[in-house]
Amino acid sequence: MKLNGLSRQIALSMVKISLGISALTTITSWLFYYIIFSYLPEQYSCESISIWPDFSDWLLIAFTTLMGLVLSIVVAVKLSGRILVPLNSVANGIRSVAHGDLNARAICNDQSLGEAASLVNDFNALVDKLQKTTEEQRFWHAAIAHELRTPVTILRGRLQGLSEGVFAPSEATFSGLLKQIENIGRLIEDLRVVSLAECGHLHFEMRGVALAAEVQSVVNLYKPIFLESGHQIHLDVQADIVYCDPARIRQALVAILENVKVHANPGEICIKLVVENDWCALRIKDAGPGIEPEAIPLIFKAFFKSTTSNSPKSTGLGLAVVDAIMKAHNGLATCESVLGQWTQFELGWPNRPQDDLRA
Ligand SMILES: Nc1ncnc2c1ncn2[C@@H]1O[C@H](COP(=O)(O)OP(=O)(O)O)[C@@H](O)[C@H]1O
Ligand SMILES: [Mg+2]
Repeated sequence: MKLNGLSRQIALSMVKISLGISALTTITSWLFYYIIFSYLPEQYSCESISIWPDFSDWLLIAFTTLMGLVLSIVVAVKLSGRILVPLNSVANGIRSVAHGDLNARAICNDQSLGEAASLVNDFNALVDKLQKTTEEQRFWHAAIAHELRTPVTILRGRLQGLSEGVFAPSEATFSGLLKQIENIGRLIEDLRVVSLAECGHLHFEMRGVALAAEVQSVVNLYKPIFLESGHQIHLDVQADIVYCDPARIRQALVAILENVKVHANPGEICIKLVVENDWCALRIKDAGPGIEPEAIPLIFKAFFKSTTSNSPKSTGLGLAVVDAIMKAHNGLATCESVLGQWTQFELGWPNRPQDDLRA
């Protein structure tokens, strides 16, 4: 049914109701007097009164019917306004959204009926969400294109130079090319993890592991690099059995240590694993330079990087991957920092088997 048809329907129904009530009142009044005059003639008989309506009665009936009609039309117009203003607004909004205008919103006035008003609110909430998702999607496409452009441009330049004989094919040139390919591969893998986690399809296997040994093996890999850059690692881990996906926790720890390698001042790096009250926490604290307080709420967002970050490997996806991994563990990643002093990342998750986590 078209909406302007609906207002006609409401007015027509009100007119029908009004005419029906007038006819019913007239007929029941006539029936009432007919019965009284027929069955109780001695009490109500009056020679001068006829049970058939005369001209003045018809005039009264016509006037009452007319008043009823006017009243019903006024009520119909008011009622249809209260229903149709929000409905029309939602219908226009849907048409605008269908034509790609995500700024369209429906309106309802104070007199709108409860259900119509909540329809407007639900529609507006839906378009808000759609607009946010579309903006995020555009941002993602632009950011992915931007991150891919750098290594691809470098690769193309180098390969062109090689093919035109500008560069001599040497081991150093090929290992440089390989590094760019590795950067692209890492970017694709990070994007895959973050995207899968966003739609709840990140595959992970919770099992009981001696996480201290896993952490130790990652630290052993980084020890020589950190020694060279003037960092000292202080490890404090408990030997408990911890429920987690060890490969994913290693991946998260590697992402954080990569950041420490690139961003942290030389100094002590404390890695602490605490297991208590069904909760597991892995803390990594460095010796600064710290993170600006306004950057901390954004730090786990995909593609966020500080303005000072000029590492060619920087994509702003490392901590988004960490966040995705912790959410898949029903846990959370947090960051605390005192500018100029220290930064601490904490990975926390419930220390329970996967079945218990889903329950
Ligand atoms: N330990 C740290 N100390 C200071 N800044 C950090 C540290 N870890 C992360 N950051 C900041 O957080 C940003 C986001 O990190 P990340 O998501 O891993 O992206 P990327 O390392 O690719 O820039 C970095 O660009 C950096 O500015
Ligand atoms: Mg990083």
